[in-house]
Amino acid sequence: MALQVELVPTGEIIRVVHPHRPCKLALGSDGVRVTMESALTARDRVGVQDFVLLENFTSEAAFIENLRRRFRENLIYTYIGPVLVSVNPYRDLQIYSRQHMERYRGVSFYEVPPHLFAVADTVYRALRTERRDQAVMISGESGAGKTEATKRLLQFYAETCPAPERGGAVRDRLLQSNPVLEAFGNAKTLRNDNSSRFGKYMDVQFDFKGAPVGGHILSYLLEKSRVVHQNHGERNFHVFYQLLEGGEEETLRRLGLERNPQSYLYLVKGQCAKVSSINDKSDWKVVRKALTVIDFTEDEVEDLLSIVASVLHLGNIHFAADEESNAQVTTENQLKYLTRLLSVEGSTLREALTHRKIIAKGEELLSPLNLEQAAYARDALAKAVYSRTFTWLVGKINRSLASKDAESPSWRSTTVLGLLDIYGFEVFQHNSFEQFCINYCNEKLQQLFIELTLKSEQEEYEAEGIAWEPVQYFNNKIICDLVEEKFKGIISILDEECLRPGEATDLTFLEKLEDTVKHHPHFLTHKLADQRTRKSLGRGEFRLLHYAGEVTYSVTGFLDKNNDLLFRNLKETMCSSKNPIMSQCFDRSELSDKKRPETVATQFKMSLLQLVEILQSKEPAYVRCIKPNDAKQPGRFDEVLIRHQVKYLGLMENLRVRRAGFAYRRKYEAFLQRYKSLCPETWPTWAGRPQDGVAVLVRHLGYKPEEYKMGRTKIFIRFPKTLFATEDALEVRRQSLATKIQAAWRGFHWRQKFLRVKRSAICIQSWWRGTLGRRKATKRKWAAQTIRRLIRGFILRHAPRCPENAFFLDHVRTSFLLNLRRQLPRNVLDTSWPTPPPALREASELLRELCIKNMVWKYCRSISPEWKQQLQQKAVASEIFKGKKDNYPQSVPRLFISTRLGADEISSRVLQALGSEPIQYAVPVVKYDRKGYKPRSRQLLLTPNAVVIVEDAKVKQRIDYANLTGISVSSLSDSLFVLHVQREDNKQKGDVVLQSDHVIETLTKTAISADRVNNVNINQGSITFAGGPGRDGTIDFTPGSELLITKAKNGHLAVVAPRLNSR
Ligand SMILES: Nc1ncnc2c1ncn2[C@@H]1O[C@H](COP(=O)(O)OP(=O)(O)O)[C@@H](O)[C@H]1O
Ligand SMILES: [Mg+2]
Repeated sequence: MALQVELVPTGEIIRVVHPHRPCKLALGSDGVRVTMESALTARDRVGVQDFVLLENFTSEAAFIENLRRRFRENLIYTYIGPVLVSVNPYRDLQIYSRQHMERYRGVSFYEVPPHLFAVADTVYRALRTERRDQAVMISGESGAGKTEATKRLLQFYAETCPAPERGGAVRDRLLQSNPVLEAFGNAKTLRNDNSSRFGKYMDVQFDFKGAPVGGHILSYLLEKSRVVHQNHGERNFHVFYQLLEGGEEETLRRLGLERNPQSYLYLVKGQCAKVSSINDKSDWKVVRKALTVIDFTEDEVEDLLSIVASVLHLGNIHFAADEESNAQVTTENQLKYLTRLLSVEGSTLREALTHRKIIAKGEELLSPLNLEQAAYARDALAKAVYSRTFTWLVGKINRSLASKDAESPSWRSTTVLGLLDIYGFEVFQHNSFEQFCINYCNEKLQQLFIELTLKSEQEEYEAEGIAWEPVQYFNNKIICDLVEEKFKGIISILDEECLRPGEATDLTFLEKLEDTVKHHPHFLTHKLADQRTRKSLGRGEFRLLHYAGEVTYSVTGFLDKNNDLLFRNLKETMCSSKNPIMSQCFDRSELSDKKRPETVATQFKMSLLQLVEILQSKEPAYVRCIKPNDAKQPGRFDEVLIRHQVKYLGLMENLRVRRAGFAYRRKYEAFLQRYKSLCPETWPTWAGRPQDGVAVLVRHLGYKPEEYKMGRTKIFIRFPKTLFATEDALEVRRQSLATKIQAAWRGFHWRQKFLRVKRSAICIQSWWRGTLGRRKATKRKWAAQTIRRLIRGFILRHAPRCPENAFFLDHVRTSFLLNLRRQLPRNVLDTSWPTPPPALREASELLRELCIKNMVWKYCRSISPEWKQQLQQKAVASEIFKGKKDNYPQSVPRLFISTRLGADEISSRVLQALGSEPIQYAVPVVKYDRKGYKPRSRQLLLTPNAVVIVEDAKVKQRIDYANLTGISVSSLSDSLFVLHVQREDNKQKGDVVLQSDHVIETLTKTAISADRVNNVNINQGSITFAGGPGRDGTIDFTPGSELLITKAKNGHLAVVAPRLNSR
């Protein structure tokens, strides 16, 4: 049986570690999330994570092989159902980090690989959710990792649990109590460099919020014989070495100690004060700090150290025999220190160490001790002082751990988590009383373990209505009885021997034992043994056939150790101690108490019974530690050693019990959920009861009737192979299912996505269309309104301005004005202008003028002075001739030229004659005589003052502008013209008849120069001119086909000029 699950309301299925607990079932009909049963899927990787899944579960070899395979891969944890088996790796595997804690928090047992933290978390969650006290029982042999596991558990709780509202220091105290207890209670042994020499049960109290609020420690049977004697290769308790190594000079001086452990007889017996794996100096620092954390005052530390030192001094007390063979203390110095450190009277102590006080018939007698007895008394005192101090220390730690809030309501609802770190089964070459006690303790715990496991198993079968098939297992009650039974048990017999008057010795005890329990199948002595076994048994030995193996005990020292005698006067001396710790350890009431104190074995038995009771009252969880080799080496898997431990830890038993009925059990819902895909009827959903579904499913899978049973809520599968076959089928099915599911899921996923995108697109589209539509509608509405207003305005456009036509009129106006810009005339000659609306006529006119002015202005600004002059002259020409003379139009496109004769064409004599007068214009002309009208070639020069007619190199005539009265010209296309001269001017020869090829240019320039623009006459028909004094001439102009200038018969000059264009 391996996997039990619980369905929690979240739909999650979690592992039930304690199967007999009522299961909470809150199954949502659909969504049951089945935890991956990693134990199943991981079985092919590195062994099986849970031994119950071992096919060959009865084979120790298979069991060990599985352990080995996993150990090789540093997988030190494996389950047997809810029990955690741990193999000490002897190396730091980095698996206890904060991340690991987080990983194991709140997850199901089987979701993650086996780990101590999985147990820790499961226990904690059970504690919180069910509010039942829990106990984690950690067992295993010395060096198997119990203490380490306890520490890791504590650390897990300290780091992951919420902090209490008040007294947050509890977490520190819980953690810090450890180094102190380890210093005083742990020692290096052959098995373990940090072996706990006491049993420890620690309660951690949690408030209702799950925060640790207090703690309590129970300690069991400190191995005090170690104080005075250690085997070779072993050490005394750590604290002695720590103090000597790490203590300050000043402290050591005060305590009268030397730094060298070799100086102390109690520390040299094992001959190994120094151990490479232990750093006493740094450990001491840790301990010193821890002492402060757990509320030790400086004085208390002082007192405690005094006691530790006094034990060392006690060890160095030597005796010498006097003449009467009575022991005498020879080491005065040690005595002196002792007196001071223990705060006792020196003389009393000396006497107590060398004498024994006997009370006989009410009288006290002092009997001197011989050397042997004195040494015994000294060692007894050392042991008593140390062990009682240890007990006091535990009490002190408990006071510090005790919840300070005991009265608060949260305290009342605390739950307790117990951690049991107790010495494991021990077998040495020589086994004595201590081993007897320890192994008895292990028997008890094993009994409890089997009982609880079996019980839970049985309860589950009952609850499920499955017929309980008795499991064959080794019930070690018989051995427990052998040890602890009243009157007949070994402890009773031992006590009896210790208490009876007369000469009782270890051997008489053995005889008594032989007498009383000789028929017990698990008991053997030399006398009772058969021939063959007798050889392996000494006469002073007895053998117990423990569940874990045979152990031979030597009876030597049994009585003494059981009696644990401390001579009365030593007790008295210690009771008088002023050292506060000592006075608490040695109570005076002890002296007056006539009743004999309980023997050690009985005390131990009682405390064990009490422990069993405590454990029974709690939900147990188990961690079974295994030590892989004796050399404390990583990676070494000593099969013999491990097989032995597997045996005495009862792991095979445990597995058998778990597997007695069924290897696997599972809630119907979960089973169906996991495997429903293997049967067409149950896949994909089963509508009926899960139980029926499972029935259909297993029938389909072909389970044989002996392979499984149907319980009330669970299916029970007997063999792992059935389950594995199912798992294999599932694995195959999964591949195809996965593909299908993936395809379906992808299809679904993408379809969803597509639909989402589509929805979004539609949404955006409709919104956008809406927006566009609204915009368009607004625009249309506006347009319609505008058109309507325009039409109405148009109809009423001639009416006076009113609201109906205002818009139209404004529109016409603005559009006229706005369009005007584009319709402006291109240049000054362009006379086009858009027609303005009536209201703008005036403005339009103004604008037009402005526009023209602007164009003119712009034009004027842009022209050169020469061009300006040209234009001015052209303007004058236009003024004079436009529409009046026929050949004027031909002259218009021809530019006026500043002069038609170059300076070289004018005679220098002429220039000389003109003097300083510049020539403004020169042009060749033809002069017609006044009489014969003979044409003669001449030059016409214009100066600022006169028109000069030049004949070759001679100025023929000079007409000052003042004398130029006018200019006549015909309206025809000829180029004749007459310059009229003042008649009164006698110097003048009369008017001059000239002809210029550039008549318009010549006349324009002459008129301008002479300022006779208004005096140019354009005649039709004829021109009369003064030919000389009293003689006038006439020129007749007639239009004709071609130019002809002749003297007419009437003496007139007849000019026929072609008509070029009609005027
Ligand atoms: N889980 C572990 N990881 C690493 N080392 C460990 C582990 N458990 C034990 N050890 C080593 O083994 C030693 C002995 O372990 P310890 O817990 O003291 O044994 P026990 O208490 O069973 O006698 C430790 O000091 C430590 O070095
Ligand atoms: Mg330990």
